[in-house]
Amino acid sequence: MILLRHTVCGTLRGARNLSTRASAILSALDIPVGAAELPGVYDGQWSGSGDVLESVCPTTGEVLARVRSATPHEVHEALGKSKEAYLHLRTVPAPKRGELLRQIREALSAKRDVLGALVSLEMGKIKTEGIGEVQEFVDICDYAVGLSRMMNGRVVASERPGHTILEVPNPIGVVGVLTAFNFPVAVYGWNFSLSVAAGNANVWKPSPSTPLCSIAVTKIIARVLEKNGLPGAVSTLITGGKDVGEAIVASRDVPLVSFTGSEAVGRVVGKAVQSRFGKSILELGGNNASIVMPDADMPLAVPAVFFGAIGTAGQRCTSTRRLYLHRAIAPKFLDTLQKLYATISVGDPLVDGTLLGPLHTHAAVGIYSDAVDRLRQSGAEILTGGRKYDHASLSQGNFVQPTISVPKTTDPADMIWSTETFAPILNVGLFDELEQAIEWNNAVPQGLSSSLWTRDVRNVGKWIGPEGSDAGIVNVNVGTSGAEIGAAFGGNKSTGWGRESGGDAWKQYVRWSACTVNFSDAAPLAQGVDFST
Ligand code: UN1
Repeated sequence: MILLRHTVCGTLRGARNLSTRASAILSALDIPVGAAELPGVYDGQWSGSGDVLESVCPTTGEVLARVRSATPHEVHEALGKSKEAYLHLRTVPAPKRGELLRQIREALSAKRDVLGALVSLEMGKIKTEGIGEVQEFVDICDYAVGLSRMMNGRVVASERPGHTILEVPNPIGVVGVLTAFNFPVAVYGWNFSLSVAAGNANVWKPSPSTPLCSIAVTKIIARVLEKNGLPGAVSTLITGGKDVGEAIVASRDVPLVSFTGSEAVGRVVGKAVQSRFGKSILELGGNNASIVMPDADMPLAVPAVFFGAIGTAGQRCTSTRRLYLHRAIAPKFLDTLQKLYATISVGDPLVDGTLLGPLHTHAAVGIYSDAVDRLRQSGAEILTGGRKYDHASLSQGNFVQPTISVPKTTDPADMIWSTETFAPILNVGLFDELEQAIEWNNAVPQGLSSSLWTRDVRNVGKWIGPEGSDAGIVNVNVGTSGAEIGAAFGGNKSTGWGRESGGDAWKQYVRWSACTVNFSDAAPLAQGVDFST
């Protein structure tokens, strides 16, 4: 009913003229382009009568859509529907859930390029990265299809005769997935795929600034659920702001909350979930360093640092923000890197060949400028960048120059080094010994990704061992960003210790039971305790 009201009013009263660029993408994803407002809640039915979220194109400033988020009542209803969906899905055998994921994988794959284009349009990352992000969802579906036949428990030897112990994984319930703007498709995919394989329903609250990506993904998934006669609320969508996030985080019907976002909000989420004894997976800030040794293969290292620092306009959690160069190779490395920076093609992320799109929001431009001002005031040398682009063709978007700076201090406790600025700013420090660089790498609060460039196996051993990097991702001759889905993804320390995607991450999406079964005719106690009368 609500959906009808908004849609009808929209087409009658407030039909909108979208650019051809935007309408072609939205239409291909079955998102109505003429509507004044779109419903932003899905729990089997589309609805939404809460506050309006605006989706703004970061490249042109065009309002792509207005989306009606959820009222508190709608959040409550949607959580109820999700719980019902869970009660159903948990009875579906895991390999059948795998078959569902296989179909979702196919449906996503069929729309991969256009969904990737929507990511570019709404988030601002370049098309190849937008498509790559959808590919990550496709890949983790593949992984979860296999996993659906391998979510094995264990048989444990019992000390008692005629007894056996099983460790049994069962579905956990409704999983809340709160995602950030920078990966508006993939991060839901990582959680959703494992969680569905495990037998759970999911409630997705996307970033309020990327509602269209979440609506498009939900439509694709919903069609497959419907075709299989499964409740749509297996993949519930609740768009909204802080209130919606808080309601999900507070709900005792959501035993597991997976949150991606800032350290500041993650601290609040983690405490709130813990206070009701829920479980959380936290993916918070990254402040990632690349370390380059004198024996590194420079033709590999320089482009990798370039991609790490500038890819996604420096808005990946895994972006390279700190570059530690061995003094012996620093001048040459920086010279080559600067030459590469000078070639960067900036512009519409949807245009082939563009390597640098806009920052996601106008506010992010302010954060970038403040960080550069701080660097200047502290006496840092700005080797390149440091300003907003001022060409007329870029003036409608949030375009900033990728920046390389050499701060005066190398003290990792200094704010320049210890805080994450979500923008393409690369700070450079020079070192003489690997130990020094590792110490700096580890001295910041965050611990997501790290990368060492060397051909010397002794350095590799040190780097990945107990005296090495303390991050969750410890790469060798591979940049800090661009992880594959097969290994668990996540960071340590203030990054939150969460793990998603591959590896053993699935084990968090189930409740584990230790089941001791007595198939003997006696009932002995463990540890030989004698309680006979
Ligand atoms: C993130 O930045 O939040 O490793 C996720 C990468 C991507 C995922 C990043 N596969 O850069």
